[in-house]
Amino acid sequence: MLDKTKKDWWKSAVVYQIYPRSFQDTTGSGVGDIPGIVRRLDYLQTLGVDVIWLSPVFASPQVDNGYDISDYRDIDPLFGTLEDMRTLIREGKRRGIGIMMDLVLNHTSDQHRWFQQARQSRENPYHDYYVWRDGTPDQLPNDMQAVFGGPAWEWVPEVQQYYFHQFAPQQPDLNWENPALRREIYDMILWWMDQGVEGFRLDVIDQIAKEPDRKITNNGPRLHEFLRELSAETFQKGCLVTVGEAWGADIPRAKLYSAPDGSELSMVFQFEQMCLDQQPGKEKWDLAPLPFVKMKQSFARWQRELHGCGWNSLFLDNHDLPRIVSRWGNDGQYRGRSAKLLATMLHGMQGTPYIYQGEELGMTNIQLPIEQYRDVEIHNLYHKRMAEGYPEAEVMASIYAKGRDNARTPMQWDDTPNAGFTTGTPWLPVNPNYTTVNAGEELADPDSVFAYYQKLISLRKQYAVFVDGDFTLLEEEHPCLFIYERALGAEQMLVVCNFGDEATPWTVPENWCGARVLIENCTATPDTLQPWEARILYKVNR
Ligand code: GLC
Repeated sequence: MLDKTKKDWWKSAVVYQIYPRSFQDTTGSGVGDIPGIVRRLDYLQTLGVDVIWLSPVFASPQVDNGYDISDYRDIDPLFGTLEDMRTLIREGKRRGIGIMMDLVLNHTSDQHRWFQQARQSRENPYHDYYVWRDGTPDQLPNDMQAVFGGPAWEWVPEVQQYYFHQFAPQQPDLNWENPALRREIYDMILWWMDQGVEGFRLDVIDQIAKEPDRKITNNGPRLHEFLRELSAETFQKGCLVTVGEAWGADIPRAKLYSAPDGSELSMVFQFEQMCLDQQPGKEKWDLAPLPFVKMKQSFARWQRELHGCGWNSLFLDNHDLPRIVSRWGNDGQYRGRSAKLLATMLHGMQGTPYIYQGEELGMTNIQLPIEQYRDVEIHNLYHKRMAEGYPEAEVMASIYAKGRDNARTPMQWDDTPNAGFTTGTPWLPVNPNYTTVNAGEELADPDSVFAYYQKLISLRKQYAVFVDGDFTLLEEEHPCLFIYERALGAEQMLVVCNFGDEATPWTVPENWCGARVLIENCTATPDTLQPWEARILYKVNR
């Protein structure tokens, strides 16, 4: 177990993300719940993770699956009760697994008590908790668009004003300029810290300092000022792990967010690599092949530049992204092997790795008829692009490749009906491949993707070079090999990944001959790397 009283303990930690709705149902409702997570804690302990990032379980009308919070201090009955949450925190701690709550601080639900008050009159003390602008019913303040489509402004006749929303109209943006609002947020966070949570993930945190009059959404001028205040008033009073979601983060900003003095956060999720397989300047739906060399160089830049003066988060999957084995791997013939390669590439780097539920099994994307998808973003996109005259096949191809429901299908526990996720009707269909891809099978197989993840996690705890080593990219221009070295004094490791369906000539460099193999996803042959072969070598220079 990690000593979580040690400063920066999270640098050696591995985080596991749970999307509660799709993890384990115990009531037959078809929706996963908190007692379901408690039931599966032993599984997570077997995997070896130290922290669970829980996507939002707060009270919510569920317009955006919980990313629309109506009460930060209560649990949605869909998922259980506050008592269930306390049980989860306690039972997790017993197994060395802390809980990281997902705080949505950029906006609330329109059903939140604050917003219900705010919309009643301009004089209401809560009015200023949100972002309002004057206009007339047919004259919007400006032409800003919401992320989920449509205008970013919604008219409220009672106050004769528009409120600003960067996401769905049911997700009004909070006004961080208001000190009373900030105080309420800090008190709420301190309350969760008192409940024993060990960390927070901060949803779209780079958007809190918006300035709609200047059309600024992320990276607003006061962003880092707000973050430093937030951190000083809350996180710094404990020994927490914090990670901000920041689509707008570049390297200089990431250094501020993750400054070693702890003045802001532990780290951020940045999306530079995740935005590479789309047409430049367009949306994620405008598909493009992954530019492999660019991808390597991008990872390498983040590795080099944050070394010693910041900290990376490492992830390939989450609840908003398609399944990585379908996206960058081969989810057919080489599903298992390519899933292991992707894990090797990521877990060999410096930073805190995040595993998204089912990634450790090599779970894949799904294709559904449009009416079976549940994500608000998918439906908005479908209607928008159909109205714009896109061919339906092209719209569906985008949804198959990038739709968020790919990651949200129920966790595949075993080969019983509904993959052991529910005894009822699952809220989103189970991927039909659950009969072969499931935790039951993989736990019994020493060669499974699960067993491989387990081993990678234990290696990180065993060898300091995983956590602290520096990073050098080799074969920078090679079109299918991703090879890098890590070094910490005399301790060195070499990570070798052959990205693709073809075998590739490669000879172990002379200075690595005789090095120990820490892990490999197939049997090594001389002078050739098999399709999707991955390996980590280790040596101590004397
Ligand atoms: C973040 C979440 C996403 C949500 C959005 C609005 O991007 O990860 O799921 O829809 O914020 O809260």
